Amino acid sequence: MTVTVVVGGFFGDEGKGKIISYLAQKDSPVIIVRGGAGPNAGHTICDEHKTYKVRMLPCGFLNPGARVMIGPGVVVNPKILLQEIDEFGAKGRALIDKKCGIIEDSHISRDSDLKSKIGSTGSGTGPANADRAMRELKMAEDVESLSALLTDVPGEINGAISAGRNVLIEGTQGTFLSLWHGTYPFVTSKDVTASGICADVGVGPTKVDEVIVVFKAYVTRVGDGMLNGELAAEEAEARGWSEVGTVTGRPRRAADFDFELAGRAVMLNGATQISLTKLDVLFPECAKKTAYDELSKQAQSFVEEIEGRLATPVTVIGTGPAVRDIIDRRS
Ligand code: IMP
Ligand code: MG
Repeated sequence: MTVTVVVGGFFGDEGKGKIISYLAQKDSPVIIVRGGAGPNAGHTICDEHKTYKVRMLPCGFLNPGARVMIGPGVVVNPKILLQEIDEFGAKGRALIDKKCGIIEDSHISRDSDLKSKIGSTGSGTGPANADRAMRELKMAEDVESLSALLTDVPGEINGAISAGRNVLIEGTQGTFLSLWHGTYPFVTSKDVTASGICADVGVGPTKVDEVIVVFKAYVTRVGDGMLNGELAAEEAEARGWSEVGTVTGRPRRAADFDFELAGRAVMLNGATQISLTKLDVLFPECAKKTAYDELSKQAQSFVEEIEGRLATPVTVIGTGPAVRDIIDRRS
């Protein structure tokens, strides 16, 4: 039985969606539960058939045998959630906590100030969390269209843990977008480190077995705020590192892998494992490899440098966009 938490190690968009989707199918968790801020987060997942983009639904939805849940710490946009449940066939196995806060149109309009001030996504997440702190926010239990989805998420998860089942807890955003530990004020409206994600879903620290911190092989950031060693847009383009945000469509700024930042992320999250994504973007000869010994010497040295300098094993490595493009060195 394993309780695993997966969080982003940099500024979001590390490729957590794909890693979570893989673990959700490989490890057969009975519950996959999402913590984090709200629909400001976007995850992209590709399988053999298509590319999925989710903003509210947990990334584990591609495992039809698992129930997917959203913890009470997350603010929910009912329109986006209901649409994703419908579109991705999660009806009947997607549940949210009755104490999830609700984003309304007024939150989205209030977010436009923050868009220009700090580069917010404009999803209404920050203003909704502010209203929650003011004890003014509407709860999911007060919204009729959500009534069929409501449950006691912490009760469900802790019940599964007591029964000896696997549970996967998915974080959103990244460590340095944390309201406490990030590059304030250019941060999101919550703590999004492993401890914060566990609090969002109602799992106590003694119940967690593994904390997997996901790093991309290079660093990207959307919105404003510091990015050490930021490359000129043309250089990022030449290296194949130019990406656009899942939610906002804005270009992502890019820089080399940052060992110092990564070390701090390992510390702040209490990481037991590292997942490294997009290794094929740095080392094209590694594309779609599924075994560690098929990687080039240079790619292996990069992985081993990360393990050495961060004193943490690199266990799950992404070598391409599809969920099956993965090297799993666990066990
Ligand atoms: P907000 O959370 O929408 O207020 O945005 C605050 C900052 O966090 C902005 O720079 C956003 O671009 C960034 N941000 C929020 N959520 C994510 C995410 O899931 N991935 C990447 N950046 C994010
Ligand atoms: Mg994203």
